[in-house]
Amino acid sequence: MTITKASALPTEQRPNHSKHRSSRLPGPPWYTAAGNTLRFLRHALDFSQEMRNRYGDVVSVPTLMGRLTLVFHPDGVRRVLQENHLNYNKNIPDYRILSLVLGNGLLTNDGESWLQQRRLMQPAFHRDRVAAFGTLITEATTAWLNQLETAQAIGSGRPLDIPQEMSRLTLSIVCKALFGADLPAEALERVSRALTTANHLLSEAFYLPGILSLPTPQRHRLREARGELHAVVDTIIQQRRALGEQRGRGDLLAMLLDARDAETGVGMSDQQLRDEILTLLLAGHETTANTLSWTLYLLAQHPDIAANLQSEYRRVLQGRPPRMDDLPHLSLTRMVIEESMRLYPPAWALGRRALAEDEIGGHTIPKGAYVLVFQYVTHRHPDFWERPDAFDPERFAAERATGRHRYAYFPFGGGPRLCIGNQFALIEARLILATFLSRYQLLLSPTAHVIPEPLVTLRPRGSLLMTAHSTTDGAVYSGGKGASQ
Ligand code: HEM
Repeated sequence: MTITKASALPTEQRPNHSKHRSSRLPGPPWYTAAGNTLRFLRHALDFSQEMRNRYGDVVSVPTLMGRLTLVFHPDGVRRVLQENHLNYNKNIPDYRILSLVLGNGLLTNDGESWLQQRRLMQPAFHRDRVAAFGTLITEATTAWLNQLETAQAIGSGRPLDIPQEMSRLTLSIVCKALFGADLPAEALERVSRALTTANHLLSEAFYLPGILSLPTPQRHRLREARGELHAVVDTIIQQRRALGEQRGRGDLLAMLLDARDAETGVGMSDQQLRDEILTLLLAGHETTANTLSWTLYLLAQHPDIAANLQSEYRRVLQGRPPRMDDLPHLSLTRMVIEESMRLYPPAWALGRRALAEDEIGGHTIPKGAYVLVFQYVTHRHPDFWERPDAFDPERFAAERATGRHRYAYFPFGGGPRLCIGNQFALIEARLILATFLSRYQLLLSPTAHVIPEPLVTLRPRGSLLMTAHSTTDGAVYSGGKGASQ
């Protein structure tokens, strides 16, 4: 069993959640604020781990931006995201920054307006609807591989920039799922460039919010990128609306255009539709791209597990591309991806504002507190994970996962704001991995040196270069330097 005794106990019997309520939260003293700020800005992951090791599962950290309340225990995560979610909204700087590009889309929206939008959009992400995108995903991945082969960028010994390639592939997939065949290559290129610029600037602003509120060159560039995105998306919406009844095509945009509120019968305005599309473009590609990059990185460091994956593909696929109905038989692929998202969760922390006082783990959370639940730290919590830093996909085998705390692992968040695209992402990641790795083995370039960089999402920083060799070449896997597990 992976699960330790503590996590196997019913919630109410677990340690650390005393009934004694204490008004002063544990944490470093006020005069460490400047140092904490620097450490949080530079090394958020290590710093947060250290805070848990020193002070426990609920920690108040003084910083120059105000106090941060860090919640690490899964019971606390459940309290914030699910049990008392109405007490925690998204009125925090991170989401204000994101809304500069995403407007009032689902990720940044809140309250009644969010609920109404979520109701309108939920049916488009129903499992059966998402499953219909399986063929699109495999075809796009095969086309991407073929393109790389034609350009001799793969199979020729030339290194591939994995994060860049994964991002290119997942963006083209989410664009096809959204717009069908409507997005010409030139528009895709424009969207891709503007989205990359916006993403960089938003990430920079995560740690330096002022750079986008003052008249800086960064703010100017963000406005340009946003203008470009609006121009492309608005044109597509207008073209589709003009088609009237003829517009049904089975892509996400058609579903969103047809969505009507059950009570009022009202659909989305053009502006709301644009915000939702931009949200799906941004939230729907970067996260999955990171998951794939980290997975390929971990596999390159664990050649035995990579070899077992190859056996799974030979046995199940027998040389053909994967299909949706193969997924239940690709169990190692699923476990590898889940374990990769445990060690390197693309959403590494989620922030909320406490609207009223609350109690978590026997501690008082003050009204107005800036609360952060931390996937990166909880996913490595020693009370819930044996050998927390080891890459061990089998811990996601059904028999080992049974009884695990629901919130010991929450890569897609939880409660009412659970990621709407989680089924899409899991289907996509498995189909891409199986299509790619059934044809190629990947070797980490000897110069590769990678560390996790916590920006809007958790990205691999440094060079994640890999060479791809045809599975029939008999290449041997090898490890590289970096954040090895
Ligand atoms: C591995 C891939 C992904 C991960 C790890 C991920 C993670 C998350 C997380 C943690 C949240 C909750 C944010 C919060 O509570 O503050 C979220 C929300 C969201 N995600 Fe994902 N996501 C992924 C893929 C996708 C995809 C493929 C799409 C769309 C096609 C998507 C669209 C969204 C949207 C629209 C929201 C906001 C939902 C709401 O608040 O109602 N995500 N995602």
